[in-house]
Amino acid sequence: MKVFVTRKIPQLGLDILKKEFTVEVNPDDRVLSKEEIIKGIKGKDGLLCLLTDPIDKEVINAEPALKMIASYAVGYDNIDVTAATKRGIPVSNTPGVLTETTAELAWALLFSVARRILEGDTFTRNGNFKGWAPMLMLGQDVSHKTLGVIGTGRIGTAFALKSKGFHMNVLYADEQPNEQLEQQLKARKVPLVTLLKESDFISIHVPLTKETHHLIDEKEFRLMKKTAVLINTARGPIINEKALVKALSEHWIFGAGLDVYEKEPEISKELKQLDNVVLQPHTGSGTIETRTKMALMAVENMMTGLKGGIPPNCVNKEVFLNKSTT
Ligand code: DGY
Repeated sequence: MKVFVTRKIPQLGLDILKKEFTVEVNPDDRVLSKEEIIKGIKGKDGLLCLLTDPIDKEVINAEPALKMIASYAVGYDNIDVTAATKRGIPVSNTPGVLTETTAELAWALLFSVARRILEGDTFTRNGNFKGWAPMLMLGQDVSHKTLGVIGTGRIGTAFALKSKGFHMNVLYADEQPNEQLEQQLKARKVPLVTLLKESDFISIHVPLTKETHHLIDEKEFRLMKKTAVLINTARGPIINEKALVKALSEHWIFGAGLDVYEKEPEISKELKQLDNVVLQPHTGSGTIETRTKMALMAVENMMTGLKGGIPPNCVNKEVFLNKSTT
């Protein structure tokens, strides 16, 4: 069988895949257009794609031989899973292996904003540091403050648990109660409005869906404390970026740390000009260890799916229910 891989991923994964299948990898280290993906999957049984690939209905229906889509990411909002399910194609993602890594980046952003690390680095490099000063580049304390976690799935939970050493008061907003956080951190489940009003640090960990699109908009920024710090390592469109620029430039909040953007990879000029935001190029899962684990996981899903089994991280298991009843 033949597999198309839309961009080079860690070699260890590709080597395993190549032992069993004919593998074609996009030779250029760049995001492919939809048309190029359609061309790439011609005559292929499997598609191994990235979160930057628009895998919509047109792509999914373009190749009759296509039997399996393995994504190299945990979030799969870029894939029309409904269209894949209609065609009986299993779709898989890479949950679990990137949980701690992404939670760590959220903390790195939180500290960078709270203690103005990037501003301090630029200031020091530029020769502006003339000695210790009582009022120089003052930030925000983190310990003993209130942490608001929006979405407590795998990554949100790992992020919250890491607050333990900082003795924080943890609030969370989720549809489901999170017993682990309530027991280990005495965290309180609160409505989103309460979380926004009471938190010093707010971190977003929900998937992008119709319901979470622009979950944080002008109205929500107005509720936050003037000293609040907002972190987003989930998906860009969860925040209305225009409202964020307004909130940061008019100092409705203290700052923000972002790994994701509304029109990724485009970032608005206004956002880039602000000092009170730290910008990271979507590297939530970007460590050598984690990216390798993601490759192995995506490959395992692909191999199982192409051999007719249920991929361990299948997100549309109903495909198999349909198969067994027909
Ligand atoms: C994912 O896998 O969805 C993450 O955004 C990668 O960093």
